[in-house]
Amino acid sequence: MMLKRLSVVLLACLSLSACGGVDPNSPLGQRKAIFKQMLKIGEDLGGMLRGRIPFDGPKFVDGAVRLDALSREPWKHFPQVREEDHTSAKDDVWQKQARFQEMARTLEGATGELVIASKVQPYKISNLGPAVQKVEDACSACHKEFRDH
Ligand code: HEC
Repeated sequence: MMLKRLSVVLLACLSLSACGGVDPNSPLGQRKAIFKQMLKIGEDLGGMLRGRIPFDGPKFVDGAVRLDALSREPWKHFPQVREEDHTSAKDDVWQKQARFQEMARTLEGATGELVIASKVQPYKISNLGPAVQKVEDACSACHKEFRDH
């Protein structure tokens, strides 16, 4: 399983040269991979609500649960000292740890609420829309403060 996943990552790097010299096993490589997965799931959930992808209740729940689990993962891959290269994390991640962690908890709270909202039946887009919006707001609020674009 692990091996298969690893080779998929390696292949993606080779063919797209998307990894830009970042070792996929390094903390930076790992958190970038997690963030990308979060983006993909978030886009799929948003896409279902906006009609880009057909709405599928159980798939939505599954995505919400996966997003919630992933939202707890990136933070441990920020090492004690900032990497020199390839990171778009601002110095503030290390200078303002308390604030950074607080925003991480906000995201985790929002994805937790999304899971709860996603399980309410019958499925109602009017119920899910605000929950997804709250998650997206938590992503962009942190990027504004802590990520260089
Ligand atoms: C607590 C702060 C915080 C939250 C919340 C957050 N991010 Fe990020 N995100 C970052 C930081 C910092 C980086 C830069 C990481 C680096 O390059 O070292 C980043 C990078 C990314 C990247 C770029 C990865 C790459 O390949 O360089 C994506 C995509 C991303 N985040 C998606 C998301 C999504 C989607 C959410 C919400 C579901 C989210 N992030 C929530 C802080 C956050």
